[in-house]
Amino acid sequence: MLMGPPGSGKGTQAGRIAERYALPHISTGDALRAAVKAGTPLGQEVGAIVASGGLVEDALMTGIVRERLAAADARAGCILDGFPRTAAQAAALDSIVDPAALIVVHLTADDEEIVRRLGARRVCDACTLTQSVSPHTDPDREACPYCGGNLSRRADDHPETVRRRLQTYAAQAAPLIAFYRERPTFAAIDGLQRPDRVTADVCRHVDRWRA
Ligand code: AP5
Repeated sequence: MLMGPPGSGKGTQAGRIAERYALPHISTGDALRAAVKAGTPLGQEVGAIVASGGLVEDALMTGIVRERLAAADARAGCILDGFPRTAAQAAALDSIVDPAALIVVHLTADDEEIVRRLGARRVCDACTLTQSVSPHTDPDREACPYCGGNLSRRADDHPETVRRRLQTYAAQAAPLIAFYRERPTFAAIDGLQRPDRVTADVCRHVDRWRA
């Protein structure tokens, strides 16, 4: 399970380690954005909350994750990205999976770097790859370097909303970290390192505890 502030690199690292361990990457943020884009009842319910940088209600999120973890492809394990986000979600997760089997990684990053990263983050509409655009080019005119598709800014990556997300995170982080900190399978990893170094640290921790 990967936790950490917005922009700390959870999605980037989750994608890499999911590939390495051949496990599904389960991102609650991606699931909510997909529901919003498809206009499902869930999407209609959560759209304004996600766009404003607030948190979707614990019971709703827990229900979504409980259902996803029951799927056949998650039986051998998975990479959880963005859940749990509150101590209440963490307690609920302990009732869904064996707490002893949970490997927890807290990615750390400071607010200044987060604001910089999220200001530069774009997602390709075509190939869906997340990437950082250079501050020296016009970010809204850049095409995806991988497929030529259109690069979009996430609705919640506008500076005002990033600030709100950081406040939301700060309000929940201390009790969530306290929930896991004493577990032997908890590790805090410096998310300010180069992405490859972060991946190496995460994998070292996972390899140590993986059954
Ligand atoms: P979610 O999608 O989970 O957003 P988040 O937690 O705010 O995290 P991000 O996706 O913004 O960042 P990330 O840590 O994945 O960083 P990334 O790898 O992209 O959730 C969105 C919303 O959904 C929430 O605000 C909430 O409303 C709702 N929600 C979701 N889960 C919920 C839950 N459990 N309960 C309630 N509500 C929930 O990297 C960011 C950028 O930095 C990228 O451009 C990347 O290329 C770059 N980068 C990554 N690593 C590095 C590095 N090491 N060095 C330099 N650049 C890097």
